[in-house]
Amino acid sequence: MTIPSLVTIPGTGGQAPRLAVLLSGGGSTLQNLIDQIQRGDLHAHIEVVVASRRDAFGLVRAQRAGIRCHVVPRREFSSVEAFNDALHAVLEPLDVDLVVLAGFLSKFQLRGRYQYRVLNVHPALIPAFSGQGFYGLHVHRAVLDAGVKVTGCTVHFADDEYDHGPIIFQECVPVLDDDTPETLALRVQAVERRLYPAAIRLWAQGRLALRGQRVVILPSAPSRSLT
Ligand code: GAR
Repeated sequence: MTIPSLVTIPGTGGQAPRLAVLLSGGGSTLQNLIDQIQRGDLHAHIEVVVASRRDAFGLVRAQRAGIRCHVVPRREFSSVEAFNDALHAVLEPLDVDLVVLAGFLSKFQLRGRYQYRVLNVHPALIPAFSGQGFYGLHVHRAVLDAGVKVTGCTVHFADDEYDHGPIIFQECVPVLDDDTPETLALRVQAVERRLYPAAIRLWAQGRLALRGQRVVILPSAPSRSLT
């Protein structure tokens, strides 16, 4: 078996990455990033928040933090293609370093421009309980219905499929006998709050590399050639 070679992902060389955060709902994931940046725990700048619904509470959180917002309402576009045309038109002039999916219900197409520059967090251990329709509390309901004893959180590079792409972090969370979708969500979200900023940090430091589909975390960023 030939071992695939290691492909490094440049990140921003340790500079604060300029982020676009895409969301559809409450925005607690966004809030965590805002809080971590304000506390100085995450060296990053949120350039823009884009919501796929006009009523997304995440927009309120963004406005409170003084972050530029756009709404690209998925419902007003007849196809994923047309929706992405509008989304990309918003993002292109901003030239962000990294797109952070934060409870984004719609498909974001990479279009050859964003490979390994889009992260997603999913509240389960992909490929289990993931894909279209597996969002927020629906995920935790499905986990409880299936009777599994562990679930967890995944942070991964997004590709053009829902909840799919090379996995950066996964961490298990126990499912307890008396869990409701809400109590399970809280336990999983506590892990999300820690892993998502950690992945952004490693990406910016250029410490994520790929060996085939496997993400390898480098002890330090590879040195750059001066030629
Ligand atoms: C988060 O738990 C996130 O993991 C999940 O949606 C929630 C968004 O919450 N994402 C997915 O299910 C992606 N398939 P928020 O709107 O409060 O940030």
